[in-house]
Amino acid sequence: MAEQSLLRARGVSFAWAGEHGVAGVDLDVAAGEIVGLLGPNGAGKSTLVRALSATVGPATGSIRLLGDEIGALARREIARRVAVVPQEPVFQFPFTVLEVVLLGRHPHLAGLAFESAADIEKALAALARVGAADLAERPIAELSSGERQRVVVARALAQETPLLLLDEPASFLDLRHQVALFDLLRELADEGRGILAVLHDLNLAAEYCDRVILLGAGRVAAAGATADVLTYANLTRLYGTEVYVDVHDLTGGLVVTPLSARARARLHRPH
Ligand SMILES: Nc1ncnc2c1ncn2[C@@H]1O[C@H](COP(=O)(O)OP(=O)(O)O)[C@@H](O)[C@H]1O
Ligand SMILES: [Mg+2]
Repeated sequence: MAEQSLLRARGVSFAWAGEHGVAGVDLDVAAGEIVGLLGPNGAGKSTLVRALSATVGPATGSIRLLGDEIGALARREIARRVAVVPQEPVFQFPFTVLEVVLLGRHPHLAGLAFESAADIEKALAALARVGAADLAERPIAELSSGERQRVVVARALAQETPLLLLDEPASFLDLRHQVALFDLLRELADEGRGILAVLHDLNLAAEYCDRVILLGAGRVAAAGATADVLTYANLTRLYGTEVYVDVHDLTGGLVVTPLSARARARLHRPH
């Protein structure tokens, strides 16, 4: 294939002390694509994202970032190849938003050098791209969850990596910002980056993901082209609740509808 493999994972396993984690996961992200990682709470999505970026581990199996085994790369080199938007970012210091985004520049700084004017430009440009330029001087601790989430995406953008791993990046965003974020991810993919995003909103996944991976109890339950994988049977089994999948009359896109108890009673009521 002509596609450039940015991330190639084979047989990746990682166990927490209590045995939960991920087991035998195969996964690829190529330049130009958005891959969705879906699954119920506790399935191991965050564990997998962290294993793939070596923030937990070492995992067993093979994880290649742009061709090189992650275990052979220095932390700084990993950070030049992959940026992570964690599900629950932790800020140790009372940073301003701009200071948080500048952290994304650190893998590119020489030795103990301070950020240059060019780094500040890049950080401000990243903030502008997520529609958060006006937040630059605000203390990170004072932002709303949705504002903070966009700032952490900006930090990942400022890192200028070919690969982006995002763990529920849209969970706190309103509808407009969800669409803006995923439109931005689409642009980044079109520019040649590879994107792996954990998400719970199956309609967003249907609209934006080229491929999806369903994770259940730490293992890949199904993987492939989005329309092939997001089916009534797969989703109903994975989430343990009935999920309808239809094609939208006007957009032609998939529409995913979880059934309420009331809807189920209506549908299954004998006529
Ligand atoms: N830091 C941790 N220490 C021990 N167990 C953990 C830790 N983080 C997650 N787990 C366990 O790993 C499993 C998968 O969790 P996680 O990857 O966060 O799931 P998901 O992101 O799919 O909701 C869960 O059973 C969870 O309790
Ligand atoms: Mg998670």
